[in-house]
Formats: sequence, structure tokens, C-alpha cells
Amino acid sequence: MKFYKAAVVGAGAMGSGIAQVLSQAGLQVVLKDIEAGYVEKGLANIKRMYDSRVKKEVLTQAEADSHFAKIKGTTGFDGFDEVDLVIEAALEQIEVKLKVFQELDKICPAHAILATNTSALSVSEIASATKRPDKVVGMHFFNPAHVMKLVEVIPGVKTSEETVNAAIDLCRTMQKNPVKVEECPGFLVNRLLFPYLNEALYVLQEGKHGPEEIDKAAVDFGLPMGPLTLLDMTGVDVCFHVNQFLSAQYGLRFKTSPLLQKLVDNGFLGQKSGAGIYQHTPGKIYGKDEKRELNPSLAKLLSEIKIDSGSSSKGGVFDVYRIILPMFNEAVYALQEKVVAVNDVDMAMADGTGLKRGLLSLAKEKSLSFCYDRLIEYSNSHGERFHPAWYLGKLANAQIHDFSELAPAPVASVH
Ligand code: 3HC
Repeated sequence: MKFYKAAVVGAGAMGSGIAQVLSQAGLQVVLKDIEAGYVEKGLANIKRMYDSRVKKEVLTQAEADSHFAKIKGTTGFDGFDEVDLVIEAALEQIEVKLKVFQELDKICPAHAILATNTSALSVSEIASATKRPDKVVGMHFFNPAHVMKLVEVIPGVKTSEETVNAAIDLCRTMQKNPVKVEECPGFLVNRLLFPYLNEALYVLQEGKHGPEEIDKAAVDFGLPMGPLTLLDMTGVDVCFHVNQFLSAQYGLRFKTSPLLQKLVDNGFLGQKSGAGIYQHTPGKIYGKDEKRELNPSLAKLLSEIKIDSGSSSKGGVFDVYRIILPMFNEAVYALQEKVVAVNDVDMAMADGTGLKRGLLSLAKEKSLSFCYDRLIEYSNSHGERFHPAWYLGKLANAQIHDFSELAPAPVASVH
């Protein structure tokens, strides 16, 4: 299927990044939000992205101007009756998404594909708000959407193969790397990322390790930014909603850290609100090595939380495996459930989060029994969040040290 015109619903950080990528891929784009101010902010954000592309000599000024001119902002549904595709990037609340899809179904042409950029919610449920569930698909981008290479393509129960293939082709047109993930809460990357983000907050609230120390340990491990910096960038409220959903679906492994709740309750939503774990200057994007101040209210928030540091918590040098192993364990749960092909896990984490080394390669580097034993140790001291996947125990007992030794998973990789 050839796409000529697209609409993006939601002009926030994700929606504007997606609109930029679509326009640079040659599509006409309608960018919609509920208030003119949000639309203007989204367009200004896209203009900044194009200015940066010119500055980095990726595009000439004339090319950037011509791509930018393909985007029209609206607070209504102007132009939606001509689109081939809509990508919804509205609030991460199921009621909002259902309402948006109901409206889109009425207004968009019968052939149009309706994609949702939901972070974790059910694509099948969202599709049920339409009379074209075969044409509804998850297309999950990663923040910053114009930079991160990965798009997860998630079919709902009624999504047709044709729609999935069209979404995959579109990803390639946008120069993104698609990975097909079977529908499950959080899909693949968020499902792995959130136990890691959440655990970093648990470590912080125990009071033995500060934000910079936790972030630095993650960067030294191979992530491009630490979990607490990432939390502020992604949006503390977004992370809270996603984690609450995952916790409701998967139970205790995702039990939301009290600190995450506290930050939201106090309006510390991260970069966009001026403070989260760190202090932020509105509109300023900090460089990798630039020093940032901590949110001055953080110490007070931490002092208000009852600290349960677990019996084996020793302080001293921070053990990065405390936050990495929950991510690894969740990858094994995902393999156990066959929601992703084994070869796609490391690629998806690299393209979706910038992780510079293979997550599953830990099994080879450190051995599966190391991972299993450490998870058991942590589950004894810190509880259910570390409960190892049964598949991990099975592979460790079978002396498997390399996931590539496993028979190809039944999930069809798109690579
Ligand atoms: N906020 C917004 N944009 C940022 C940013 C920030 N804090 N930091 C960097 N960027 C943008 C820059 O503006 C720049 O954009 P431009 O090309 O339009 O000018 C671009 O990223 C590259 O910036 P740099 O050249 O400074 O590159 P770095 O080498 O510092 O990399 C990074 C920046 C790409 C953000 C890198 O640190 C990274 O990969 N971080 C991990 C991001 C990640 O994990 N994303 C997934 C989050 S989870 C998610 O989105 C799922 C959702 O459902 C919750």
C-alpha cells in the first residue's frame, strides 16, 4: 500500500516527532491536537528538528523548508477525510483512545489504516472502538521519536496481515527499523524497560545511592543515559501511567515505586514541567556530559517515604545488576511467552533505548546461573519484583549459556 497523506493525533513530544518523520519521508501530514496552543507548540518543535537537520547538514535549507511545508496543523478534523493513515499519539488513557478511534473510524476513508502509538495498552481493545479492526495496528515509537530507530509493530487479534505488512513497509519508508511483537502489555521494549526504571526509583528511595550514582552506573553498563534521566525525559506522568497499567496486568514484578507516585502527586513530571528527579530549564536540552542540578524538593519527598531497603542491602558501591537483571528477567519472560523472536530482543533494545551491548548476551558474558542466582538473592532480600522466570531456571539447569543455541522462536521476525 502506498501512503500519500497521513494524520497524527496529538502534537506533544511523540506526535510532533512522528509528524516530522512522516513529512521527511515525503508524506503530507495533518497534525491535530485539542487546543491551538498545543498545535503551535508541536509545529515549533518540528521546526526546531528541521533546523537541527540543516545544521547537522543532513538536509539543505530548501529540503527542510519543503518537508516542513507538508505539515498542516489543526484542532479539528480538516483533511482527515483524505488520509491513507492516522497515527494516534494522544494521552495514554484507554477512554481517550477509544473515543479518538471511534471518531477516526467515522471520518477517515474506508481504506485508511488507523495506528496507535500506545505505550502499553491493548491494540485489540482500541480496535474494538472501530468497524475496521482489521485495519487497526500498533505502531509504537520511542522518544525522541525522530531519532530512535525502532518502531514496534503490534497486530491486535483482528489486524489483517495486509495491515501489518503495510505498517512494516511504512516504517522502512520512514527509515525506521520495525520489529513485530505479539500483543502483550507493554509489548517488548517498555515491558523490559519499566522494571529497570522502577527499580532505579526503589534504589533511590532506599537512600543509599544518589541519582547521579545510579545514572552513571547505567551509562557505564552501556545505556546512553541513566534511568532517572530517562524518566525525566520520557515524562514522570507517562511512566507512572504505563507502570500502573503493567502492574495491574503482570502483578508484583511491576509494583509501582512509591517515589514515582510521590513525584506525580507533587507535579514533578520531569523535563516538561521544569523538575523531576533533576531540575530542568524549560526548552533546554542538556548535553550528555552537562552537569544538572537535583530537584531541590527531592530530599523532602524521599524523607516522606517509608524506606524498606531489604535485608541484604549493603550500601557501598552500587550494584548495577540490581536494575539490569529485572530487565533481563523480563526479556526471558517475554521469550517464555513467545511474544518476540529471540534474535529481535537485543536489536529492539539497541534501536529503542540505545543499549550498546546485547541484553541477552549477559547469559554468555556472566552465565545464566549468575543471572538466576542473583535474581533469587534479590527476590529473597527485596521480594517478588525479582521473581525469576521459570524459563530462566530451566535454561540455567540445562546449562544453556547462549540464547542463539535455542531453536528459532515461532514468532516471525521481520528481519
Ligand atoms: N529530550 C528531548 N530530545 C532530546 C533529549 C532530551 N532530553 N536529549 C537529546 N535529544 C535530542 C536532541 O535534541 C537531538 O535532536 P535533533 O537531532 O533534532 O537536534 C537528538 O536527540 C540527538 O541529540 P544528541 O546529538 O545530543 O545525541 P546524544 O548522543 O546525546 O543522544 C539520545 C541523545 C538519542 C536521547 C540518547 O541519549 C538516547 O538514545 N537515550 C535513550 C532514549 C530512550 O531510551 N528512549 C526510549 C524511551 S521509552 C519510550 O519512548 C517509550 C514510551 O512508550 C514511554
